[in-house]
Amino acid sequence: MAWQIPLTELTIGEDDVAAVVQCLEEGWLTMGPRVDQFERGVAAFCGAPHAAAVNSGTAALHLACRALELVPEDEVIVPALTFVASVNAPRYVGATPVLCDTASPTDLNLSVESVEPHITERTRAIVAVHFCGYPADVVGLRRLCDSRGILLIEDAAQGIGCLVSEDGRRAGTVGDAGCLSFFSKKQLFVGEGGMVLSSDEETDKRVRLLRSHGMSASTWDRHRGYGYSYDVVDVGYNFRLDEPRAALGLSRLAKLEAGIEARRRAVRQYRELLADVPGVELAWSDEQVERSSHFAFPILLDDAEACDAMRTGLADRGIQTTRYPVIHGFSGYRELAPMGSLPNAESAAGRHCALPLSASTSEAEVEQVVEAVRSVATGLPGSVR
Ligand SMILES: Cc1ncc(COP(=O)(O)O)c(C=O)c1O
Repeated sequence: MAWQIPLTELTIGEDDVAAVVQCLEEGWLTMGPRVDQFERGVAAFCGAPHAAAVNSGTAALHLACRALELVPEDEVIVPALTFVASVNAPRYVGATPVLCDTASPTDLNLSVESVEPHITERTRAIVAVHFCGYPADVVGLRRLCDSRGILLIEDAAQGIGCLVSEDGRRAGTVGDAGCLSFFSKKQLFVGEGGMVLSSDEETDKRVRLLRSHGMSASTWDRHRGYGYSYDVVDVGYNFRLDEPRAALGLSRLAKLEAGIEARRRAVRQYRELLADVPGVELAWSDEQVERSSHFAFPILLDDAEACDAMRTGLADRGIQTTRYPVIHGFSGYRELAPMGSLPNAESAAGRHCALPLSASTSEAEVEQVVEAVRSVATGLPGSVR
């Protein structure tokens, strides 16, 4: 379907193309100097001491679990409202994911209060997701984790650059590991890619080892003459990022701050124009909007039926939307929690609908989407007040 206004649009500049072409012309494609430079650039942007690039956000989460040595006896608390990769990561190492609720019906992140009832003697880690780019309370969760001897993994796949503390720390720098995604719809995109942020040198070393088969020297190291051979010291993976993607990432990184600000401007306009639309509730607060890095802009309808009608009505008008189902609603994940046990997440999953948002979303597009939302909303049963 050709959408009049798609959910996200990529704006790739000539300079981005030139950066990739130059990389191809230079002729070194597997992980090398550009990956190294990209890692240093992202580490500086996020304020993280270490950053190790991998080939997806999912690989970043998987390696965080391996590097932090989670084992099958462990339980890992994960929000029920997230993308499935957050829940799969502990499963890859045999650990048991334990789903928790969102903070409230309108704050769609987990919270200290929503996590606490799920802590048991087996809880080894919490995966805090910065859902839609809005900062989860990782400062509060850090305190909780420290007092209970629990690890904190930040899933910042949707939240690169969001501000998680009063003193301006960015997502991924408070946990024992912070995982980023550079998937093509993310604020910083390369197609497929990810990164593990950490402040502990040993964690970073483990991630670097495991991303490349557990080998003691990389192809790039050997190309530069740093050793003729290598040892394999652990069972690793091929989760390496390649040079063309790193070249694109470096070029895009220079535009990330401006892109986040452009998304924030669009969200402010959305919120202002939607304030008087009947049956539409806004998620999170204005203060949280200022700290978010705005991966997505969800609105809340009265219930799942109203949400379906809104999505269909907008699709009929050429406007693409999306919705995240709750994890224990998926057929392969039903055993993780009984339906009805996580009421805020279940309600939010049923009644949220994310509207189009990109760094290039224009004022006119926001106006057009809001007018469409208004026209559908006023036609919804029970929504004319
Ligand atoms: C919250 C969350 N975690 C993890 C991931 C996985 O990232 P990737 O698609 O780069 O593997 C995503 C991707 O959409 C995500 O939204």
